[in-house]
Order: sequence, then C-alpha cells, then structure tokens
Amino acid sequence: MEVTVVPLDATQLKPVPTTFKFGSTFSNRMFTRVYSADGGWQDAKIGPYEPFNLAPATAVFHYAQEIFEGTKAYRRPDGNVNLFRPWENARRFNASAERMRMPQVDVEDHVGAIVQLVEMEHEWVPDAPASLYIRPTMIATDPALGVHASSGYLHFIIVGPVGSYFSSGFQPVPVYISDQYVRAVRGGTGAAKAGGNYAASLYVSEEVKAKGYAQVLWLDAVERRYVEEVGAMNIAFVYNGKHIVTPSLTGSILPGITRKSLLQLAPDIGYEMSEAMIDVEEMLADIKSGEITEVFGCGTAAVIAPVNRFEYKDIVYDIGDKTAGPVSQHLFKALTDIQYGRVPDPYGWTHTIEVG
Ligand SMILES: Cc1ncc(COP(=O)(O)O)c(C=O)c1O
Repeated sequence: MEVTVVPLDATQLKPVPTTFKFGSTFSNRMFTRVYSADGGWQDAKIGPYEPFNLAPATAVFHYAQEIFEGTKAYRRPDGNVNLFRPWENARRFNASAERMRMPQVDVEDHVGAIVQLVEMEHEWVPDAPASLYIRPTMIATDPALGVHASSGYLHFIIVGPVGSYFSSGFQPVPVYISDQYVRAVRGGTGAAKAGGNYAASLYVSEEVKAKGYAQVLWLDAVERRYVEEVGAMNIAFVYNGKHIVTPSLTGSILPGITRKSLLQLAPDIGYEMSEAMIDVEEMLADIKSGEITEVFGCGTAAVIAPVNRFEYKDIVYDIGDKTAGPVSQHLFKALTDIQYGRVPDPYGWTHTIEVG
C-alpha cells in the first residue's frame, strides 16, 4: 500500500499537551483511505487530523454501518514504542467488517498504517502509566438514503494520549447487573465492534450512573441468566484466590484481546483460568459465601478494572474486602509489564517500533 504523506502547516502542528483526558485529546495527524466498489481501497494518506466533509445523507449517519477498534501504543523504558497484538486487533476489525457487510482490509496494510502513523506521531506516546490510544474506524459513505450496504467506505485511524480509563485510577468500581435491558443477542451483532452496540447501551449506562454505578453488567438476552460482559470490558471471577473463570464466547460477547491474553498468561503465573457459562444467581451466591474472592473487568482501555460491588434486583453484593485484590493486581502488573516492555515478552504479543 502506497501512503501519501501530506505535510502539515504550522497552524496544524499543536504541541504535545502535558495533561489529557481519555478520548478527548488527539494528535496532529490521521490515516485515511477510501473504498469504492470498482476501485477497491485507494488514496491512502497520512495528513492533518481534521473534520470530514460528508453529505447529510451519508449512509453512516442514518443506518449506523460503522465499525471501530481500540488498541494502544506503549512507551518502553528504552524509549521505543510497543504495539500490543496489532495483528489480532486487525483480524477482529475484519471480523466486525464482515458482520456489518463492509469490505475487508488487508491486515498487513492496516497494521502498516498504524505503525507508520505511530512512528510519525511518536512524540505523542506518553510515558507509563499513560499510553497512546489508537482508534481505527470504518464508516459507510454513500451519500444517499436507502437501507442497503453502502458501496463506498472511509477507513481512518486517529491516535491520542490517554491516562487511566477510570477517573479513580486502578480503583475498584461498582457495577449494576441489568435484569431489564440487554446489550446483544446471539445471532445479533454483539461479537462485532459496531458503533450501534454502544449506542444501544447508553440509555442503561446513564441510568445506572445516576444510581452511583460505574458500569452495567449484561446478561444473556434469551434467558437473562448467564453473565456476558461489562461495559466495554469482558469480565472474570476469581474463586478462592486461584481459579479464574470468564464467560464462554457465545456469539453475543465481544472476543476481547485482553481476555484472550489473560487466558494464556494466567496459568503461566500460577492461576488456573477457564471459560464457562456463568449463572448470575450462582455467581452472586458464590460472592455471598466468599468463594468468589475477586471480580474484575478486562479490556484494552482499563487493562484490569477490579469490581467491588454488584447490585442486582435491588440487592447489593459487596465483593471481598472492597479493595483491588491480589490476583487483579498481579495480572495487571504481569500484563502491563509485557505491554510496556519492562519484561521480556515470551508470547510474541508486542511489536516494537524503533523511534530513537
Ligand atoms: C463490548 C466490549 N467487550 C470487551 C472489550 C474488551 O476487548 P479488548 O480486550 O480487545 O479491548 C471491549 C473493548 O474493546 C468492548 O468494547
């Protein structure tokens, strides 16, 4: 893929800020390219981060044919930059594209675009514990109404420095279990990272925030019985401080890369970790009896987010001693040490970009 680099003028070159908030600060450049049914992907560019000029009738505004990804670049102690499993992330982008009837991207081109953009914007990669969030996106661009797959698409990648996902840092968060609303149903789009899934969750997440909860835990849509995932994270339960269980991928859960990495990493650092269908009532009984000692969400944004409380059907369940537990802390350290290149990566998950 040939990428044209558009030079920036002085007004487009903002200095790297010293403070930033998750998701609201972006670097000076972005990657873009367009797709047409006859020409395929073309016009790949890295140019200024600037608004798009799209007709009001553009398909994505009306029918939400849109997918996105989230991955991060981490500053290593030697000053170089690590990407974490970018190929795995690109394959999930393609899986989402397929489900939303959008064109595939060449995985090497997509990762190559991320590498080139991060190389050019490497000054925007903050030191640990912050990181550079990378947001690849694809939108339908046909400028016409009508419910059908678009013939034109825009693929773009923006990046921006991020601190901790939760304003409270690595602090446990309370989570509300919804028995009334569902996020996704088997056969639906829950396993795709499609914007519409998130739009559909907002009503409930705002409602639970008003009750003092940070996130919603979703149950399966058919029986409202099995635990699925929480907010923009997968979830895991620690039994007796040593056995970790995470819900099986049933088709309505996003197959998280952090989750997949923990399934491989946890046994190597002394824990059993397995996948299972988790009945919400049994899980809550195990919290009450103390058999479940920790609960945590896992995902790119927060890495590990310990959960200290659930509310379900007006009953509150406090978990463990309500502080971040030892297993959550151990997994957080083990995974972030690999991501930031503080320890050797025995799994080949990291891709280092030499920027020195
Ligand atoms: C709905 C949902 N579940 C789980 C995850 C965790 O996935 P990952 O670990 O790949 O970030 C995310 C975040 O991408 C998400 O949006």
